[in-house]
Amino acid sequence: MDKKILNQIASQMVSESKGILAMDESHGTCEKRFNALGITVNEENRRSYRDMLVTAESLPKYISGAILFDETIKQKISEGTNFPDFLNKIGILPGIKVDTGAKPFSCHENEKITEGLDNLPQRMEEYKSLGAKFAKWRAVITIADNIPSSACMIANSHALARYASICQEFDIVPIVEPEVLMDGSHDIHKCFNVTNTMQSILFEELDKLDVVNSGIILKPNMITSGANCEVQSDTNEIAELTVKCLGNNVPKDVPGIAFLSGGQSDEDASNNLNEINKLNNNPWKVTFSYGRALQLEAMKKWNGDNNNNLEAQKIISKRSYLNSLAASGKYELSMENQ
Ligand code: G3H
Repeated sequence: MDKKILNQIASQMVSESKGILAMDESHGTCEKRFNALGITVNEENRRSYRDMLVTAESLPKYISGAILFDETIKQKISEGTNFPDFLNKIGILPGIKVDTGAKPFSCHENEKITEGLDNLPQRMEEYKSLGAKFAKWRAVITIADNIPSSACMIANSHALARYASICQEFDIVPIVEPEVLMDGSHDIHKCFNVTNTMQSILFEELDKLDVVNSGIILKPNMITSGANCEVQSDTNEIAELTVKCLGNNVPKDVPGIAFLSGGQSDEDASNNLNEINKLNNNPWKVTFSYGRALQLEAMKKWNGDNNNNLEAQKIISKRSYLNSLAASGKYELSMENQ
């Protein structure tokens, strides 16, 4: 492990108000998104859709890294270059999702444990040879009656720590993602309490396994009301509680925090990130690592037809630009209509 290399990569991932494009949907998630729009699900469509995303002209101005799926890191863009080589050439760091998904957690109804530690060192070696500079592992925590259990938070945090340690052995920066889902009717205070506990357990586990803080990126949820909660919090409360939670738990030597969007609308994801940045006076950079809130409108415009590439690329470029402004507290809602 080379701590200097890890810190250089992690710092680059969150520099210049750039963010990370999460385009690592598993086959199942991709199928769900394509089906919802009536797009034919096949390997070539997954490839050409992602080709459209990464070849959007202004992307490298706003995006520092792109998280790929196992299939994509081995594919080529239309001009014949491998995805990771192309990304490196345009100044975007290639990353790779390495977990194999959230599976039912033994003896804990309705809870999930993320798997993927088996053969991870071997897979990491392969991904490194293909050009990956960072990786991602997502743990999923659900809020409902009597859950999450401590057991679920401890087991997922331990798996995240094992994964992060393996990444660092290979000088690959781990994105550590403890996602507390927005699903449910809980209020924002419940979300705060669960996220605060999860992040506290997570950083204890990372510390126990000697994971180097200066060589990770944290990818958390924002603190929001549940999607079905009757009282939806405003952006000021979201920003205040999110910064408070991070301040309670994230060591100061972590270089950056890159939020997931978690099902928020495009505008909410940008606006909340902006307010968080206005409030944050901790040393870590705070940016975005969005999937849906960067891609969904562009996917609709593309609609399985490469003749729509230019129009779809304008959309992904605009969302990347607006989120990059939000990563430095310079976004305004009125910019959406410009
Ligand atoms: O792991 C989750 C994705 O990388 C982020 O997706 O922004 O749609 O929540 P999302």
